[in-house]
Amino acid sequence: MLADNQLLPPEANFEIYVIPMVNPDGVIHGMARTNMAGLDLNRHWGENILKAPNNKINVWLDCDPGLDDILAIIYAAHCDRIDLIGISTSPGNSSLENTTRNALDMLYHIGRSDIQVYMGSNQLINGDMKLADHVHGENGLGGVHLKQSPRQAITEHGLQKTYEKIMSTEGQVVWANTGSLTNLCILLLTYPKLKSKLKEIVIMGGAIGKGNTTPAAEFNIFFDPCAFKNVLKLKGDIPLVMIPLETTHINIAGEDVYERFKGYSSHPFGLALYNTMLCYQDFYITVNKIPFPPYHDPLTIFYILHPEEFEVRPANVEVDTHPGSYGRTNIYFSYPGVPRVSSSTLVTTNLLNEKTKFWDEMLRIMDMIFSPEMQKTIGIEY
Ligand code: BDR
Ligand code: CA
Repeated sequence: MLADNQLLPPEANFEIYVIPMVNPDGVIHGMARTNMAGLDLNRHWGENILKAPNNKINVWLDCDPGLDDILAIIYAAHCDRIDLIGISTSPGNSSLENTTRNALDMLYHIGRSDIQVYMGSNQLINGDMKLADHVHGENGLGGVHLKQSPRQAITEHGLQKTYEKIMSTEGQVVWANTGSLTNLCILLLTYPKLKSKLKEIVIMGGAIGKGNTTPAAEFNIFFDPCAFKNVLKLKGDIPLVMIPLETTHINIAGEDVYERFKGYSSHPFGLALYNTMLCYQDFYITVNKIPFPPYHDPLTIFYILHPEEFEVRPANVEVDTHPGSYGRTNIYFSYPGVPRVSSSTLVTTNLLNEKTKFWDEMLRIMDMIFSPEMQKTIGIEY
């Protein structure tokens, strides 16, 4: 039996896919075969982004750290092709107070306290908050407590200040989103001029098939489905790339990655990070019965840097808010002869290399952070 809105595995020729056609109520009303050969959108988007004025990509990160969000922070903050111009926070994996504290503390321990943290909205567009503390622990970091950053977040008018910071940045900005879409929705509603500054929106969220919070929904969308629904409307022509569970589930931190992180654990911050990984792994062993966990959120940053590593497809994305399928993303993929598909929304459907560059790049950054020179610069006394 076919699950609602499920993308079937490729047939003999990997370019041919069978796609169930699902109406907005989630009912399958037909099947389509599609051959996406010839679409080379990865390259197209990638080249556009790399035309940023200072040769770096301006990135804003909106997140809810979060055991996997923290790797997105580290990656974006230390990648030399990205200028991380600010971080805004949302509730989700933990309370807004905790996610904001975690973002600040993470920046502190990696020597990037110069990056400002802006506290986002503590109010959803619609619905009640259901935090994911059963996954991310009581504080969002699996109960691991870091030495606190002496810096404070911008808590008063955090979203207005986010808007002002983005508008005053030279060149356009890529908005990376690893929590709910609440903050972006409020910003687009309140400040329509923001659209002119956003080059692209890259989100981790949604699923083509089965969700991870309910059978229908992935967590980031489930948390505030109306937010994503409205972002899709309000964004106009801004390209939006959705990285769903089907892609992030490929990005497993395997035994080799765990061994490498264990190697940093003679350092107090290294030990703290390793402990967050153990807590995350525990959840996946217990609940998902898989030995090593997928790291969802850092793929947003990986996409911004390496779009050529992803298979993407243009799609119409709709967000379901019916009670039985609350938060489900209904994906209508483009295929030849179907004119209704939006040209500015893309969904990733695969990672093209079995062994992506992601973990290599992440580990290179970690080596750099734990090098004696960098530790001297960071200068935290543990
Ligand atoms: C997403 O939900 C959160 O728990 C993770 O941080 C990630 O952003 C995965 O569904
Ligand atoms: Ca997250």
